[in-house]
Amino acid sequence: MGTYMITGATGGIGASIAESLAARGHDLLLVGRSADRLAKTATDLGSGAAAKTQTFDPAAPASVAPAPRIRTLVLDLSEPPRIEAALVEAGLPDRLDGVVHSAGVVELGRVAEMEADEWAEQLMVNLVAPAELTRLLLPALRAARGQVVFINSGSGLHANPGWSAYAASKHGLRALADSLRAEEPDLRVISVYPGRTGTDMQRKVRAQENAAYEPGSYIEPATVARVVVNALETPRDAVVTDLTLRRQSAV
Ligand SMILES: NC(=O)c1ccc[n+]([C@@H]2O[C@H](COP(=O)([O-])OP(=O)(O)OC[C@H]3O[C@@H](n4cnc5c(N)ncnc54)[C@H](OP(=O)(O)O)[C@@H]3O)[C@@H](O)[C@H]2O)c1
Repeated sequence: MGTYMITGATGGIGASIAESLAARGHDLLLVGRSADRLAKTATDLGSGAAAKTQTFDPAAPASVAPAPRIRTLVLDLSEPPRIEAALVEAGLPDRLDGVVHSAGVVELGRVAEMEADEWAEQLMVNLVAPAELTRLLLPALRAARGQVVFINSGSGLHANPGWSAYAASKHGLRALADSLRAEEPDLRVISVYPGRTGTDMQRKVRAQENAAYEPGSYIEPATVARVVVNALETPRDAVVTDLTLRRQSAV
């Protein structure tokens, strides 16, 4: 079993990925802004993983795998220069099988209206923080020949009106992934481009679009998680580099 760090672990897609990895018995280091939300996520995951291992093979309890170890790290990714000190204080891992960058923020607005602090927050959280965190984790990732997953977006492939700052951050994230993959041939680097997914972020987007949030009309976070975990489990002779998910219109 491996050890994975997940940012945005308290959010829709990150929490689903954490749940899937915990269910497979991996140890997790969950990153988020709020100690309370992280603690709740860790408790939910711990009990879920324990329940799964207990019911997995009732005929052979002695062979049941130990429950995954789940640790948390409070980190505000809007201030990337502070990440290094926080990681050093928490104790940098020696070996890391993967990091999943899922934390993200969105603020819609036309270029004519978007102010510098709105640009800065999206670029810091969505792009500069993943770059800085990856830099700091590289020795541990190299030690495990690990994997780096960037939860990108359809906005990392095309930029629509009203989405400039978010799309710029996600286009940059794609560039970060492509350069990293070329620079670190022992690592596997995966960019995932989901369409609209049913999470709190999508609720906010719909509100900013003055439109109703329609439950059931978006990709399920668990579906994104399943795709990510499948990619992570690709045999070592290949790497899934880019994955685009779109909502299937006739469900
Ligand atoms: N939902 C969609 O339609 C959609 C589509 C394509 C791509 N994506 C991408 O998928 C990723 C996950 O989004 P989601 O839909 O799961 O959103 P979400 O439910 O709003 O979760 C966002 C996560 O990011 C964390 N976060 C936000 N700002 C942070 C900061 N300053 N420092 C640390 N953590 C911070 C949040 O932590 P807190 O709990 O502290 O707020 C939360 O865990 C994002 O990168 C997003 O851009 C989403």
